[in-house]
Amino acid sequence: MHIVIIAGGVGSRLWPVSRETNPKPFIRMEDGRSLLQKTCLRAVATGSVESLTTVTNRDLFFRTEDEYRELALSVPLHYLLEPFGRNTAPAVCAAGLELQARYGDDALMLVLPADHLVTDEDAFVRAVARASAAAANGRLVTFGIPPSRAETAFGYIQVPEGSDLSGSHVLEVERFVEKPDREQAEQYLAGGRHLWNAGMFCFRAGTLLEELNRHAPALLQAVTAALEAAGRSEGEGHSVTRLAPESFGAVEDDSIDYALMEKSSRVSVVPCDPGWSDIGSWQAMAGLVEPDAAGNRVVGQAELEDCRDTYVRSPHRLVAAVGVEDLVIVDTADALLVARKEHSEDVKKIVQRLKANG
Ligand code: GDD
Ligand code: MG
Repeated sequence: MHIVIIAGGVGSRLWPVSRETNPKPFIRMEDGRSLLQKTCLRAVATGSVESLTTVTNRDLFFRTEDEYRELALSVPLHYLLEPFGRNTAPAVCAAGLELQARYGDDALMLVLPADHLVTDEDAFVRAVARASAAAANGRLVTFGIPPSRAETAFGYIQVPEGSDLSGSHVLEVERFVEKPDREQAEQYLAGGRHLWNAGMFCFRAGTLLEELNRHAPALLQAVTAALEAAGRSEGEGHSVTRLAPESFGAVEDDSIDYALMEKSSRVSVVPCDPGWSDIGSWQAMAGLVEPDAAGNRVVGQAELEDCRDTYVRSPHRLVAAVGVEDLVIVDTADALLVARKEHSEDVKKIVQRLKANG
């Protein structure tokens, strides 16, 4: 299986730790591994990795190489470097074209976002085994997580009435809806026939390209042209493809979910529950830490007096708080975030403002 790691997003809701120069995949978790490294190790655990392709921004190339070096991986490493992000459809399409050229139509791709957390590796490995069998038969396979809230930031996968959601069967997808509105999301949650799209995918390179040709031909053509114009270098077990701003700039911005998954009739789903989380906010990040008796969760150094349900992340210096509750406090060398937990997603507004003000 050929692993494709997509690592392009900045993850601005995890500012000030995640930022353009230190995006979410590089955030280190408690075990000392970054989300990117953990993604890689999880893929390796499937025991069937033939190559690893990473699609990322060109400015993150050396950092990414360093992360992989620590893992001493023994498979060919391919890098596809973007001058700027064009969202996931072009990134996955480019990986598909490169893998097809190198390994043929039957190359099985497992696409993994670099910034998710999976706590049950065995469940993940079992789901991938089921997915790869269906993918080999020409399906575009998604991974469906049982939904626990009416989240509007995810894709929803509708399965046939009365489907076995235990994960022992790969199911046909009746409908894929990317980021529904709140009302729809609430209906999906109540109806019991929808799963969250985990954002991981498995398919043959040939199937991906056939379906892109059917549903997003302009995008496929533009990415093909961008790859023809790309700069290339190759070493022992190592290749680097640099997309040029002129040709890649002509590619439309679209996500694989809108461009393909909502449109194709060849989408399947493996229901699974591998302790998956997208950790899109500090509130979600806090949820990963064991709370003390007062509900406080501390990573690093903190002295808390009469505080409740507060999350502190401060690896470099002591943070002290007295009499506060439901706060998120994140300290870094040059910026400090203090937010009410339920508003922690709005930190992205601060990031936008900082950007606008240069
Ligand atoms: N190389 C590259 N280039 N990677 C990218 C780009 C890009 O332009 N844009 C996004 N990515 C990477 C992100 O870093 C992330 O790992 C992954 O692709 C998904 O992109 P997001 O922008 O985080 O997508 P999303 O969270 O809004 O939605 C997707 O994930 C949800 C689950 O987390 C969709 O697949 C949803 O359907 C899904 O539920
Ligand atoms: Mg995401």
